[in-house]
Amino acid sequence: MSMKNKSLFVTGTNTGIGKTVICGCLARYLSRKGINVGIQKWVSTGNRNSSDDIDYCLSMLGREKEEIDNPLLLHPYTFDFPASPHLAAELEGQQVSIDKIVESYHTLVRRHDLLIVEGVGGVLVPLTGDRLLIDLVANLAIPVLIVTDSGLGTINHTLLTIEALTKRDIPILGMVFNFAGKEDKIIEEDNRKIISRIGKRPSFGSLSKVDSMEALIDEFEPIGKNILKALNSA
Ligand SMILES: Nc1ncnc2c1ncn2[C@@H]1O[C@H](COP(=O)(O)OP(=O)(O)OP(=O)(O)O)[C@@H](O)[C@H]1O
Ligand SMILES: [Mg+2]
Repeated sequence: MSMKNKSLFVTGTNTGIGKTVICGCLARYLSRKGINVGIQKWVSTGNRNSSDDIDYCLSMLGREKEEIDNPLLLHPYTFDFPASPHLAAELEGQQVSIDKIVESYHTLVRRHDLLIVEGVGGVLVPLTGDRLLIDLVANLAIPVLIVTDSGLGTINHTLLTIEALTKRDIPILGMVFNFAGKEDKIIEEDNRKIISRIGKRPSFGSLSKVDSMEALIDEFEPIGKNILKALNSA
């Protein structure tokens, strides 16, 4: 199926914000709509020779690694130490090669209708001592989906993320609010409104803290629908 956008970069306002959960749900949703979806995580830390994030997405897709793409293309860099890529690489006497990531990105973009790339932490995370993740996203001109928290503190984090992306002319598709329903409803509803208004980007919906795969897939349905529409019209 032909898509208007060939790739999507899923970033978060922080680590542990739900990027992997959203990537997995989105990959599954789009794949069931007949779209040939690829997945990629440029740098996975806290992992040896594999990526828990990629494994999660594969399980959501019901696919095995080798069935979809070579593991070295799915996760070009994996490091043991759970830290920022620049540090995790350094501790293993290595350095992330931006060229290698760019090459694996283009390979997977060519193979799929849509490649979903999961970010690493937030947008200003360093890949090397002098290159930030956001520099690479800007060079590749990938549209971005921001996964952010629903509750208190999210206005500042989300608007800062939007500002950093906008400053580099990176297209922002919109936001997904995660962990909804855990705080005051008044705050959560207003967060979505005020961030969309000031950030000038749409919210694709919010996902509550779920305790089963069925609930997750169910709740993601309307969010997936909104993202698919945006992917084909942006
Ligand atoms: N809506 C949700 N309901 C229940 N649990 C969730 C939800 N969203 C995320 N989680 C859980 O929170 C944790 C962090 O989420 P996730 O791994 O998706 O974050 P991340 O942004 O991908 O983190 P990283 O920066 O490490 O890649 C995971 O254990 C995940 O299962
Ligand atoms: Mg993740």
